[in-house]
Formats: sequence, structure tokens, C-alpha cells
Amino acid sequence: LGNGLASTPPMGWNSWNHFNCKIDENIIKQTADSLVSTGLSKLGYKYVNIDDCWAEISRNDKGELVPKKSTFPSGMKALADYVHSKGLKLGIYSDAGYYTCSKKMPGSLGHEEQDAKTFASWGIDYLKYDNCNNDESRPTLRYPVMTRALMKAGRPIFFSLCEWGDMHPALWGYTVGNSWRTTNDISDTWESMVSRADQNEVYADFARPGGWNDPDMLEVGNGGMTKDEYIIHFSIWAISKAPLLIGCDTRNITKDTMEIIANKEVIAVNQDKLGVQAKKVRMEGDWEVWAGPLSNYRVAVLIMNRGSWRTAITAHWDDIGIPPNTSVVARDLWEHKTLKTRFVGNLTATVDSHACKMYILKPVY
Ligand code: GLA
Repeated sequence: LGNGLASTPPMGWNSWNHFNCKIDENIIKQTADSLVSTGLSKLGYKYVNIDDCWAEISRNDKGELVPKKSTFPSGMKALADYVHSKGLKLGIYSDAGYYTCSKKMPGSLGHEEQDAKTFASWGIDYLKYDNCNNDESRPTLRYPVMTRALMKAGRPIFFSLCEWGDMHPALWGYTVGNSWRTTNDISDTWESMVSRADQNEVYADFARPGGWNDPDMLEVGNGGMTKDEYIIHFSIWAISKAPLLIGCDTRNITKDTMEIIANKEVIAVNQDKLGVQAKKVRMEGDWEVWAGPLSNYRVAVLIMNRGSWRTAITAHWDDIGIPPNTSVVARDLWEHKTLKTRFVGNLTATVDSHACKMYILKPVY
């Protein structure tokens, strides 16, 4: 969407994957504090996004959405001021229907202009817009109404379409929003994670600065996968130019989780200014090679083993778009090491079950 936002994929945190409906203003404030104290905000994680269940079930007598008195007693303006004072941005959630997916608060259908104005007056910076409980008209009719409302609201607000990929939003999302979900909800399992990655990959050609494919938020740190699986999760999201929205409790974050989500070199792949989503360039049995171009003629490569046994995997220059006789310097983004060997034609690595290697290859001309 040409609103000047999202020249690179958004980075931040969202409440849903860890807290579901059990959110309140203290959790949001403490999360903002923790993004600063852990150093995550400095790495680019700026959006603090409140998901479903923040509002009263009824609008006020002016028809406005009202933050839930019992959980957000200080109101959203005060919360936005707090989050902004930390150098962060505040995101909120609504729905292109009569009720949100939880059915615990109203949606914005028929109230788009009013709600966009309310969000802008509170100082909201990001809107996730869900698709539950609607009038069964096409999302291509309902979503642009909110786009126009946001454009008129007088504040730059990142617009995240949460239509779950049903009507192939990659095909129309770019004129409507800054990102669009390509899948149903992720859960904290290996199968769920890799299937979101696969479904999202199909739309690689449609991602670009200003509008990104969204395979759903990160589960890293929530406990349902092994460390190696979470490394694959983060690596695929990064190389796919997906929004990097942390979904765990950052107030109690482990060293292992930090090692993953605070990997500067992997984040830099996600935030590369070229903004081209990687694709699967080779699949053989249980292994895959994903690759995509980066700025300055570099290439990001992910080699992953989906099978149960350790295996050798080869990335061929032919597959990843490097001329065959080119000599290449490889930087291993998880070992944080530049490999001594110069590679010509291909690179082979041995990869454990459910593990990966991620490199930046730089041709030496
Ligand atoms: C839908 C969305 C989720 C989350 C929930 C909230 O399922 O896809 O990401 O926002 O609604 O109810």
C-alpha cells in the first residue's frame, strides 16, 4: 500500500500467540519495557501489537469502540503515550465483520471511518484487521473501505490484512494493505509451522516493499518446538520477508530464544532493502534449498532438512541464480562465521534432522 510504510517487513510483538484473550494494559506495558531492556527494540522490534479482546462488547453512545474497563482502565491514549515514550509503536486489532473472531468485542464493519479516526486519535500505529463474523460479502469489498478510512484518518497506520489467504490476498493486497495473511492460524508445532511456510512460499512473487506476504506470527519461545525447529521457523520467516512479530512472553525470555530472535545477521536478511522474498529452488526427498537475492549482488540461502536423519544437502549455483563458474564467499548466519573455503558451482553442508543452515553468499568477481 502506498502509504509510505513497510519499505521493509514490520518487526515487533503481538499478544495473540502467547496470551490469547488474557491480556491487559500491564502486560502490554511490561512487554514494551522488556523489548527495551532485552535490546530487542534496538534490533528493530518496534511494534507492540494488541490482538483480539481489548474492547467492551458494546460501543458507547457515540458509537465508538471502548477499551475494556476491567483490563485497560487507563485507556488506549495513555497506553499509546507510554509505548511511544519508550521509542516504540502501538498496534491494535479489529475485524471486517460485526464481531471479532473471539466474539468478545465488536468489529468495524459499517464503522470504518469512525474507528479509523478513533485509532488515529489514540495514537495507534498499526491495525491488524481480521475477517470473522462478516456479512459474507467479498473481502475485496470490505477491506478497501478500511484502507480509505485509514488514509483519511490523518496518521500513518500500518494496515495488516488478516483474511487468512482464502481469496488469495497476495493478488489484490498490495493496493489495500501493507501485509496480508496467506494462511490460517499458526500453532506451536513443527507441522503447523512448516505448512504455513509452504503455503506462503507459493506467493513469493507478490511480496515487495510496501506489501508483504504474512505466514502468521512467530511461535519462537512458546515451547512447542525444539531449538533447531525454532531456528528453521525464524530463518524461513526472515528469508521470506515475513513480518517478524514475536509471539512469546518477552518478559520472561530465555537465552535460547534470544539467540534466535536477536540474531542480527538473520534479521538483516529480512530487512534487506531489496525486499525480494526467497523461494524454494530445489526439493529432493526430505531436503530443501531456499534462496533469494539480496542487495549488492548477494544471495541468501537456506538449506533445510525436513526428514528424520542427518543428511548432506547441496545448493547449486544454477538453482540459486549465481553464474556457474563464480567463486563465492559464504557467511554462516547461525555460526556467525565466514567460511574459509571459496565455493565454485555449489556448496554442500551436512544438516541434522529438523535443522538448517543459513548463508549469505557473496560472489567474488
Ligand atoms: C483469528 C486470527 C488470529 C487472531 C485471532 C483472534 O483467528 O487469524 O491471528 O487474531 O483471530 O481471535
